[in-house]
Amino acid sequence: MMVLSSYVLLAVASLLPLAHSAVIVPGATWTDTSGNVIQAHGGGFLKVGSTWYWHGEDKAHNSALFRAVSCYTSSDLVNWSRQNDALTPVSGTMISTSNIVERPKVIFNQKNNEYVMWFHSDSSNYGAAQVGVATAKSPCGPFTFRSSFKPLGAESRDMGLFQDGARTAYLLYASDNNQNFKISRLDADYYNIAAQVNTIPGSTLEAPGIIKRNGVYYLFASHTSGWDPNPNKFFTANSLSGTWSSQADIGPQAVRTYFSQNTFDLPLGQNGIYMGDRWRPSLLGSSRYIWLPLTWASGKPQLVQADVWSLDLNAGTYSVASGTSYEAENGAISGSASILSSSSFSGGRAVGWLGNGGSITINNVQGIGANQWVALYYANGDSSWRNTTVSVNGGAAVSVDQPNTGGGNVILSVPVKLNLRSGANSITFSAGQSNYAADLDKIIVYTQT
Ligand SMILES: *[C@@H]1O[C@H](CO)[C@@H](O)[C@H](O)[C@H]1NC(C)=O
Ligand SMILES: *[C@@H]1O[C@H](CO)[C@@H](O)[C@H](O)[C@H]1NC(C)=O
Repeated sequence: MMVLSSYVLLAVASLLPLAHSAVIVPGATWTDTSGNVIQAHGGGFLKVGSTWYWHGEDKAHNSALFRAVSCYTSSDLVNWSRQNDALTPVSGTMISTSNIVERPKVIFNQKNNEYVMWFHSDSSNYGAAQVGVATAKSPCGPFTFRSSFKPLGAESRDMGLFQDGARTAYLLYASDNNQNFKISRLDADYYNIAAQVNTIPGSTLEAPGIIKRNGVYYLFASHTSGWDPNPNKFFTANSLSGTWSSQADIGPQAVRTYFSQNTFDLPLGQNGIYMGDRWRPSLLGSSRYIWLPLTWASGKPQLVQADVWSLDLNAGTYSVASGTSYEAENGAISGSASILSSSSFSGGRAVGWLGNGGSITINNVQGIGANQWVALYYANGDSSWRNTTVSVNGGAAVSVDQPNTGGGNVILSVPVKLNLRSGANSITFSAGQSNYAADLDKIIVYTQT
Protein backbone atom coordinates (compact mmCIF):
# COMPACT_ATOMS: atom_id res chain seq x y z
CA MET A 1 0.00 0.00 0.00
CA MET A 2 2.75 2.46 0.98
CA VAL A 3 4.71 1.60 -2.14
CA LEU A 4 1.66 1.88 -4.33
CA SER A 5 0.57 5.28 -3.00
CA SER A 6 3.99 6.84 -3.38
CA TYR A 7 4.18 5.47 -6.91
CA VAL A 8 0.80 7.04 -7.68
CA LEU A 9 1.84 10.38 -6.15
CA LEU A 10 5.02 10.49 -8.19
CA ALA A 11 3.14 9.68 -11.37
CA VAL A 12 0.57 12.41 -10.71
CA ALA A 13 3.22 14.97 -9.78
CA SER A 14 5.04 14.46 -13.06
CA LEU A 15 1.85 15.20 -15.02
CA LEU A 16 0.90 18.39 -13.15
CA PRO A 17 2.60 21.71 -13.72
CA LEU A 18 5.04 22.36 -10.89
CA ALA A 19 3.45 24.42 -8.13
CA HIS A 20 5.02 27.80 -7.37
CA SER A 21 7.47 27.42 -4.57
CA ALA A 22 7.34 29.88 -1.72
CA VAL A 23 10.31 31.99 -2.73
CA ILE A 24 10.92 35.73 -2.50
CA VAL A 25 12.33 37.22 -5.69
CA PRO A 26 13.32 40.85 -5.12
CA GLY A 27 12.40 43.07 -8.06
CA ALA A 28 10.09 40.53 -9.72
CA THR A 29 6.51 41.32 -10.67
CA TRP A 30 4.86 39.98 -7.50
CA THR A 31 1.33 38.70 -8.00
CA ASP A 32 -1.36 37.87 -5.45
CA THR A 33 -3.39 34.65 -5.22
CA SER A 34 -5.76 36.04 -7.91
CA GLY A 35 -2.87 36.61 -10.29
CA ASN A 36 -3.00 40.41 -10.03
CA VAL A 37 0.11 42.50 -9.41
CA ILE A 38 0.39 43.33 -5.70
CA GLN A 39 -0.34 47.04 -5.21
CA ALA A 40 0.92 47.79 -1.69
CA HIS A 41 3.74 50.31 -2.00
CA GLY A 42 5.26 52.12 0.98
CA GLY A 43 3.78 49.26 2.96
CA GLY A 44 3.45 48.26 6.59
CA PHE A 45 3.17 44.81 8.16
CA LEU A 46 1.18 43.53 11.10
CA LYS A 47 0.69 40.03 12.52
CA VAL A 48 -2.63 39.11 14.12
CA GLY A 49 -2.82 35.51 15.34
CA SER A 50 -1.19 33.45 12.61
CA THR A 51 -2.11 35.89 9.84
CA TRP A 52 0.14 38.55 8.36
CA TYR A 53 -1.39 41.77 7.03
CA TRP A 54 0.23 44.00 4.42
CA HIS A 55 -1.19 47.50 4.06
CA GLY A 56 0.14 49.69 1.28
CA GLU A 57 -0.50 52.26 -1.41
CA ASP A 58 -2.49 51.10 -4.42
CA LYS A 59 -0.75 52.83 -7.33
CA ALA A 60 -2.39 50.84 -10.15
CA HIS A 61 -3.51 54.18 -11.63
CA ASN A 62 0.18 55.23 -11.96
CA SER A 63 -0.41 58.44 -10.04
CA ALA A 64 0.83 59.71 -6.71
CA LEU A 65 -2.72 60.82 -5.83
CA PHE A 66 -4.77 58.75 -3.39
CA ARG A 67 -6.70 55.81 -4.71
CA ALA A 68 -6.76 53.27 -1.86
CA VAL A 69 -4.82 51.74 0.98
CA SER A 70 -4.90 48.07 0.03
CA CYS A 71 -4.92 45.16 2.49
CA TYR A 72 -3.41 41.74 1.78
CA THR A 73 -3.23 38.67 4.02
CA SER A 74 -0.78 35.78 4.14
CA SER A 75 0.26 32.96 6.42
CA ASP A 76 3.85 32.82 5.11
CA LEU A 77 4.75 36.40 4.01
CA VAL A 78 5.10 35.11 0.44
CA ASN A 79 1.67 34.02 -0.81
CA TRP A 80 -0.65 37.06 -0.47
CA SER A 81 -4.42 37.36 -0.97
CA ARG A 82 -6.02 40.73 -1.56
CA GLN A 83 -8.86 41.66 0.80
CA ASN A 84 -11.17 44.67 0.80
CA ASP A 85 -9.50 48.08 0.62
CA ALA A 86 -8.58 49.29 4.10
CA LEU A 87 -8.96 53.02 3.38
CA THR A 88 -10.64 54.73 0.44
CA PRO A 89 -10.99 58.39 -0.55
CA VAL A 90 -13.46 60.69 1.23
CA SER A 91 -14.22 63.81 -0.80
CA GLY A 92 -13.82 67.17 0.87
CA THR A 93 -11.21 65.82 3.32
CA MET A 94 -7.43 65.40 3.39
CA ILE A 95 -7.94 61.89 1.97
CA SER A 96 -9.78 62.91 -1.20
CA THR A 97 -8.66 61.71 -4.64
CA SER A 98 -6.73 64.98 -5.06
CA ASN A 99 -4.59 64.40 -1.98
CA ILE A 100 -1.62 62.22 -1.04
CA VAL A 101 -1.87 59.19 1.28
CA GLU A 102 1.47 57.40 1.63
CA ARG A 103 3.27 54.87 3.83
CA PRO A 104 0.24 53.52 5.74
CA LYS A 105 1.18 51.68 8.95
CA VAL A 106 -1.33 49.85 11.16
CA ILE A 107 -0.89 48.90 14.81
CA PHE A 108 -3.26 47.46 17.40
CA ASN A 109 -4.38 49.56 20.33
CA GLN A 110 -5.12 47.30 23.32
CA LYS A 111 -6.83 49.98 25.38
CA ASN A 112 -9.60 50.50 22.83
CA ASN A 113 -9.40 47.06 21.19
CA GLU A 114 -8.95 48.88 17.91
CA TYR A 115 -6.62 48.98 14.88
CA VAL A 116 -5.11 52.37 14.21
CA MET A 117 -3.61 53.42 10.88
CA TRP A 118 -1.17 56.31 10.57
CA PHE A 119 -0.07 57.61 7.20
CA HIS A 120 1.68 60.50 5.51
CA SER A 121 -1.19 62.84 4.66
CA ASP A 122 -0.44 65.59 2.21
CA SER A 123 -1.68 67.95 -0.47
CA SER A 124 -0.79 67.15 -4.08
CA ASN A 125 2.33 69.37 -3.97
CA TYR A 126 3.45 67.88 -0.62
CA GLY A 127 2.98 71.31 0.96
CA ALA A 128 0.63 70.33 3.81
CA ALA A 129 3.14 67.89 5.45
CA GLN A 130 0.77 66.20 7.88
CA VAL A 131 0.05 62.79 9.38
CA GLY A 132 -3.35 61.18 9.08
CA VAL A 133 -5.06 58.79 11.50
CA ALA A 134 -7.85 56.28 10.82
CA THR A 135 -9.34 53.51 12.96
CA ALA A 136 -11.08 50.15 12.50
CA LYS A 137 -12.22 47.14 14.49
CA SER A 138 -10.48 44.65 12.19
CA PRO A 139 -7.04 44.74 10.53
CA CYS A 140 -8.33 45.30 6.97
CA GLY A 141 -11.05 47.65 8.17
CA PRO A 142 -12.54 49.40 6.30
CA PHE A 143 -10.96 52.17 8.38
CA THR A 144 -12.75 55.35 9.37
CA PHE A 145 -10.74 58.52 8.79
CA ARG A 146 -10.35 60.63 11.95
CA SER A 147 -8.11 63.57 11.04
CA SER A 148 -4.88 64.84 9.53
CA PHE A 149 -2.63 67.22 11.43
CA LYS A 150 0.91 68.46 11.95
CA PRO A 151 2.33 66.56 14.95
CA LEU A 152 2.96 69.12 17.72
CA GLY A 153 2.52 71.77 15.02
CA ALA A 154 5.59 70.64 13.05
CA GLU A 155 5.84 69.22 9.54
CA SER A 156 5.72 65.49 9.02
CA ARG A 157 6.39 63.83 5.67
CA ASP A 158 7.84 60.32 5.27
CA MET A 159 6.99 58.40 8.40
CA GLY A 160 6.76 55.06 10.14
CA LEU A 161 5.43 53.70 13.41
CA PHE A 162 7.20 51.63 16.04
CA GLN A 163 5.38 49.79 18.80
CA ASP A 164 7.58 49.19 21.83
CA GLY A 165 5.89 46.49 23.86
CA ALA A 166 2.14 46.02 23.81
CA ARG A 167 0.99 49.52 24.73
CA THR A 168 3.51 52.19 23.75
CA ALA A 169 3.95 53.37 20.18
CA TYR A 170 6.00 56.04 18.45
CA LEU A 171 5.79 58.09 15.29
CA LEU A 172 9.07 58.22 13.34
CA TYR A 173 9.04 61.14 10.91
CA ALA A 174 10.90 63.51 8.64
CA SER A 175 10.15 67.00 9.95
CA ASP A 176 11.10 70.64 9.42
CA ASN A 177 11.33 70.50 5.63
CA ASN A 178 12.90 67.01 5.89
CA GLN A 179 15.91 68.44 7.75
CA ASN A 180 15.29 67.02 11.22
CA PHE A 181 14.24 63.47 11.92
CA LYS A 182 11.96 63.12 14.96
CA ILE A 183 10.54 60.45 17.21
CA SER A 184 7.37 61.22 19.17
CA ARG A 185 5.31 59.06 21.54
CA LEU A 186 1.64 58.51 20.69
CA ASP A 187 -1.09 59.11 23.26
CA ALA A 188 -2.85 56.17 24.96
CA ASP A 189 -5.50 55.97 22.20
CA TYR A 190 -2.93 56.29 19.37
CA TYR A 191 -5.02 59.18 18.02
CA ASN A 192 -2.48 61.93 18.62
CA ILE A 193 1.05 62.74 19.76
CA ALA A 194 1.75 62.82 23.50
CA ALA A 195 5.31 64.10 23.44
CA GLN A 196 8.39 64.39 21.27
CA VAL A 197 11.10 62.12 22.66
CA ASN A 198 13.98 62.62 20.24
CA THR A 199 15.31 64.47 17.25
CA ILE A 200 18.31 63.84 14.99
CA PRO A 201 19.02 67.36 13.74
CA GLY A 202 20.20 67.96 10.18
CA SER A 203 19.95 64.27 9.38
CA THR A 204 17.75 64.53 6.23
CA LEU A 205 16.33 61.06 6.88
CA GLU A 206 13.11 59.54 5.62
CA ALA A 207 11.44 56.15 5.06
CA PRO A 208 12.16 54.95 8.62
CA GLY A 209 11.71 51.64 10.40
CA ILE A 210 12.97 50.24 13.70
CA ILE A 211 13.93 46.74 14.82
CA LYS A 212 14.54 46.17 18.54
CA ARG A 213 17.06 43.37 18.99
CA ASN A 214 18.54 42.19 22.32
CA GLY A 215 17.46 45.47 23.91
CA VAL A 216 19.10 47.66 21.26
CA TYR A 217 17.06 49.84 18.89
CA TYR A 218 18.15 49.78 15.25
CA LEU A 219 16.76 52.63 13.19
CA PHE A 220 16.78 52.11 9.43
CA ALA A 221 16.20 55.02 7.08
CA SER A 222 17.07 56.44 3.70
CA HIS A 223 18.32 59.91 2.97
CA THR A 224 16.30 62.28 0.82
CA SER A 225 16.79 61.95 -2.95
CA GLY A 226 13.20 62.03 -4.18
CA TRP A 227 12.19 58.85 -5.99
CA ASP A 228 15.85 58.01 -6.71
CA PRO A 229 17.52 55.45 -4.47
CA ASN A 230 20.37 56.23 -2.07
CA PRO A 231 22.45 54.08 0.29
CA ASN A 232 20.08 53.49 3.23
CA LYS A 233 21.57 53.72 6.72
CA PHE A 234 21.21 52.37 10.22
CA PHE A 235 21.66 53.97 13.63
CA THR A 236 21.64 52.35 17.06
CA ALA A 237 20.55 53.49 20.51
CA ASN A 238 19.82 51.88 23.87
CA SER A 239 16.69 53.98 24.31
CA LEU A 240 14.36 55.72 21.88
CA SER A 241 15.05 58.97 23.74
CA GLY A 242 18.77 58.29 23.91
CA THR A 243 21.66 59.32 21.73
CA TRP A 244 21.79 57.62 18.37
CA SER A 245 25.07 56.35 16.97
CA SER A 246 26.40 58.00 13.84
CA GLN A 247 25.06 56.52 10.63
CA ALA A 248 26.43 53.38 8.99
CA ASP A 249 25.63 51.60 5.74
CA ILE A 250 23.39 48.55 5.51
CA GLY A 251 24.91 47.52 2.17
CA PRO A 252 27.56 48.54 -0.36
CA GLN A 253 27.04 52.25 -1.11
CA ALA A 254 27.40 51.88 -4.88
CA VAL A 255 24.32 49.68 -5.33
CA ARG A 256 22.14 52.21 -3.49
CA THR A 257 20.28 49.65 -1.37
CA TYR A 258 19.93 47.45 -4.46
CA PHE A 259 17.93 50.28 -6.03
CA SER A 260 15.35 50.56 -3.27
CA GLN A 261 14.14 52.64 -0.34
CA ASN A 262 13.23 51.28 3.06
CA THR A 263 9.57 50.99 4.03
CA PHE A 264 9.50 48.43 6.86
CA ASP A 265 11.93 46.30 8.86
CA LEU A 266 10.73 43.07 10.38
CA PRO A 267 12.54 40.97 13.00
CA LEU A 268 13.10 37.35 11.92
CA GLY A 269 14.60 35.47 14.85
CA GLN A 270 18.08 36.90 15.34
CA ASN A 271 17.90 38.11 11.73
CA GLY A 272 15.54 40.52 10.02
CA ILE A 273 13.79 41.28 6.77
CA TYR A 274 14.46 44.55 4.96
CA MET A 275 11.36 45.55 3.00
CA GLY A 276 11.90 48.27 0.42
CA ASP A 277 10.31 49.88 -2.61
CA ARG A 278 11.97 50.14 -6.01
CA TRP A 279 10.14 53.29 -7.05
CA ARG A 280 9.44 53.94 -10.70
CA PRO A 281 8.02 57.48 -10.78
CA SER A 282 7.09 57.42 -14.48
CA LEU A 283 5.04 54.25 -13.94
CA LEU A 284 4.33 54.17 -10.20
CA GLY A 285 2.16 51.05 -10.31
CA SER A 286 5.13 49.14 -11.74
CA SER A 287 7.30 50.03 -8.76
CA ARG A 288 8.65 46.73 -7.45
CA TYR A 289 9.33 45.35 -3.97
CA ILE A 290 12.87 44.67 -2.83
CA TRP A 291 12.85 42.40 0.21
CA LEU A 292 16.20 41.13 1.41
CA PRO A 293 17.46 39.26 4.47
CA LEU A 294 19.12 41.39 7.13
CA THR A 295 21.89 39.56 8.95
CA TRP A 296 23.70 40.54 12.14
CA ALA A 297 26.45 37.96 11.46
CA SER A 298 29.12 40.69 11.51
CA GLY A 299 27.60 42.24 14.65
CA LYS A 300 25.79 44.98 12.73
CA PRO A 301 22.80 44.72 10.38
CA GLN A 302 23.73 44.14 6.74
CA LEU A 303 21.63 43.36 3.68
CA VAL A 304 22.23 39.98 2.10
CA GLN A 305 22.29 40.16 -1.68
CA ALA A 306 19.84 37.54 -2.97
CA ASP A 307 18.11 36.90 -6.29
CA VAL A 308 15.91 34.13 -4.91
CA TRP A 309 15.45 33.32 -1.23
CA SER A 310 13.07 31.78 1.25
CA LEU A 311 12.06 32.10 4.87
CA ASP A 312 11.50 29.72 7.71
CA LEU A 313 9.24 31.84 9.91
CA ASN A 314 9.16 29.31 12.75
CA ALA A 315 12.93 28.91 12.91
CA GLY A 316 13.53 32.62 12.25
CA THR A 317 15.97 31.81 9.49
CA TYR A 318 16.38 32.52 5.80
CA SER A 319 17.96 30.62 2.96
CA VAL A 320 19.47 32.18 -0.16
CA ALA A 321 19.18 30.01 -3.27
CA SER A 322 22.28 29.31 -5.29
CA GLY A 323 22.19 28.96 -9.04
CA THR A 324 24.45 28.31 -12.01
CA SER A 325 26.31 31.27 -13.54
CA TYR A 326 26.93 31.80 -17.23
CA GLU A 327 29.29 34.63 -18.19
CA ALA A 328 28.01 36.84 -21.02
CA GLU A 329 31.50 37.10 -22.54
CA ASN A 330 31.41 33.36 -23.21
CA GLY A 331 28.30 33.75 -25.35
CA ALA A 332 28.02 34.26 -29.09
CA ILE A 333 27.86 37.97 -29.89
CA SER A 334 26.49 39.41 -33.09
CA GLY A 335 26.10 42.75 -34.84
CA SER A 336 27.47 45.73 -32.95
CA ALA A 337 27.76 43.85 -29.63
CA SER A 338 31.28 43.87 -28.23
CA ILE A 339 33.26 42.70 -25.22
CA LEU A 340 33.94 45.27 -22.46
CA SER A 341 36.64 44.96 -19.81
CA SER A 342 36.48 46.20 -16.23
CA SER A 343 37.46 44.78 -12.87
CA SER A 344 33.86 45.49 -11.79
CA PHE A 345 32.58 42.76 -14.10
CA SER A 346 32.48 39.15 -13.10
CA GLY A 347 35.42 37.50 -14.88
CA GLY A 348 36.66 41.01 -15.76
CA ARG A 349 34.46 41.19 -18.84
CA ALA A 350 30.91 41.92 -19.98
CA VAL A 351 29.12 42.39 -23.28
CA GLY A 352 28.16 45.92 -24.30
CA TRP A 353 26.56 47.70 -27.25
CA LEU A 354 23.51 45.48 -27.00
CA GLY A 355 20.29 46.49 -28.70
CA ASN A 356 20.15 48.66 -31.83
CA GLY A 357 21.56 45.75 -33.83
CA GLY A 358 23.73 44.12 -31.14
CA SER A 359 22.70 40.88 -29.48
CA ILE A 360 24.14 37.94 -27.62
CA THR A 361 23.18 34.29 -27.32
CA ILE A 362 24.28 32.23 -24.34
CA ASN A 363 24.25 28.57 -25.32
CA ASN A 364 24.13 25.36 -23.34
CA VAL A 365 22.16 26.86 -20.45
CA GLN A 366 20.98 23.89 -18.41
CA GLY A 367 17.28 23.85 -17.53
CA ILE A 368 15.02 21.51 -15.57
CA GLY A 369 11.98 21.71 -17.83
CA ALA A 370 10.04 24.40 -15.92
CA ASN A 371 9.39 28.11 -15.61
CA GLN A 372 12.58 28.99 -13.74
CA TRP A 373 13.94 32.18 -12.25
CA VAL A 374 16.92 33.63 -14.08
CA ALA A 375 18.78 36.72 -12.82
CA LEU A 376 20.38 39.09 -15.34
CA TYR A 377 23.46 40.87 -13.95
CA TYR A 378 23.95 44.11 -15.82
CA ALA A 379 25.38 47.62 -15.73
CA ASN A 380 23.41 50.63 -16.93
CA GLY A 381 25.20 53.88 -16.25
CA ASP A 382 22.36 55.94 -17.70
CA SER A 383 20.21 58.24 -15.65
CA SER A 384 17.19 56.49 -17.21
CA TRP A 385 16.01 52.91 -17.33
CA ARG A 386 16.89 50.56 -20.14
CA ASN A 387 15.41 47.20 -21.09
CA THR A 388 16.39 44.06 -22.95
CA THR A 389 14.52 41.48 -24.94
CA VAL A 390 15.02 37.88 -23.83
CA SER A 391 14.15 34.91 -25.98
CA VAL A 392 14.58 31.21 -25.15
CA ASN A 393 15.37 28.71 -27.91
CA GLY A 394 14.17 31.12 -30.60
CA GLY A 395 10.78 31.62 -28.95
CA ALA A 396 8.82 34.83 -28.47
CA ALA A 397 10.79 37.59 -26.73
CA VAL A 398 9.86 39.11 -23.39
CA SER A 399 11.13 42.51 -22.25
CA VAL A 400 12.97 42.94 -18.95
CA ASP A 401 13.41 46.39 -17.38
CA GLN A 402 16.92 47.38 -16.33
CA PRO A 403 16.86 50.25 -13.79
CA ASN A 404 19.82 52.60 -14.00
CA THR A 405 22.74 51.47 -11.86
CA GLY A 406 23.90 54.98 -11.06
CA GLY A 407 27.02 55.23 -13.18
CA GLY A 408 30.43 53.61 -13.35
CA ASN A 409 30.25 49.88 -13.80
CA VAL A 410 27.99 49.23 -10.83
CA ILE A 411 26.27 45.86 -11.25
CA LEU A 412 22.65 45.10 -10.32
CA SER A 413 20.55 42.05 -11.11
CA VAL A 414 16.96 41.81 -12.32
CA PRO A 415 14.92 38.60 -12.33
CA VAL A 416 12.91 37.08 -15.14
CA LYS A 417 11.01 33.82 -15.21
CA LEU A 418 11.91 31.76 -18.28
CA ASN A 419 10.50 28.51 -19.56
CA LEU A 420 13.60 26.34 -19.92
CA ARG A 421 13.48 22.85 -21.31
CA SER A 422 15.24 20.03 -19.57
CA GLY A 423 18.88 20.01 -20.68
CA ALA A 424 20.52 22.58 -22.95
CA ASN A 425 18.88 25.90 -23.88
CA SER A 426 19.99 28.92 -25.89
CA ILE A 427 19.00 32.31 -24.52
CA THR A 428 19.24 35.39 -26.73
CA PHE A 429 19.37 38.91 -25.30
CA SER A 430 18.68 42.29 -26.93
CA ALA A 431 17.81 41.05 -30.42
CA GLY A 432 15.17 42.97 -32.37
CA GLN A 433 15.08 46.10 -30.22
CA SER A 434 15.76 49.62 -31.45
CA ASN A 435 16.94 50.98 -28.09
CA TYR A 436 20.17 50.19 -26.26
CA ALA A 437 20.03 47.55 -23.56
CA ALA A 438 22.30 47.60 -20.51
CA ASP A 439 25.70 45.88 -20.63
CA LEU A 440 25.28 42.21 -19.71
CA ASP A 441 27.79 40.80 -17.22
CA LYS A 442 26.40 37.31 -16.56
CA ILE A 443 23.21 35.40 -15.86
CA ILE A 444 22.44 33.08 -12.95
CA VAL A 445 19.94 30.31 -13.56
CA TYR A 446 17.96 29.03 -10.57
CA THR A 447 16.03 25.80 -10.30
CA GLN A 448 13.38 27.57 -8.19
CA THR A 449 10.10 28.14 -10.00
C1 LIG B 1 -1.69 30.47 -1.42
O1 LIG B 1 -2.82 30.88 -0.69
C2 LIG B 1 -4.06 30.40 -1.23
C3 LIG B 1 -5.17 31.06 -0.49
O2 LIG B 1 -4.93 31.12 0.88
C4 LIG B 1 -4.06 28.89 -1.16
O3 LIG B 1 -5.25 28.39 -1.74
C5 LIG B 1 -2.85 28.33 -1.93
O4 LIG B 1 -2.77 26.95 -1.76
C6 LIG B 1 -1.56 28.97 -1.42
N1 LIG B 1 -0.45 28.55 -2.27
C7 LIG B 1 0.73 28.20 -1.76
C8 LIG B 1 1.78 27.82 -2.74
O5 LIG B 1 0.98 28.21 -0.57
C1 LIG C 1 12.28 49.88 -23.66
O1 LIG C 1 12.95 51.13 -23.51
C2 LIG C 1 12.66 52.04 -24.57
C3 LIG C 1 13.58 53.22 -24.40
O2 LIG C 1 13.45 53.78 -23.14
C4 LIG C 1 11.19 52.40 -24.54
O3 LIG C 1 10.88 53.29 -25.59
C5 LIG C 1 10.39 51.12 -24.69
O4 LIG C 1 9.01 51.42 -24.57
C6 LIG C 1 10.79 50.10 -23.65
N1 LIG C 1 10.14 48.85 -23.96
C7 LIG C 1 9.37 48.22 -23.06
C8 LIG C 1 8.74 46.96 -23.54
O5 LIG C 1 9.20 48.65 -21.93
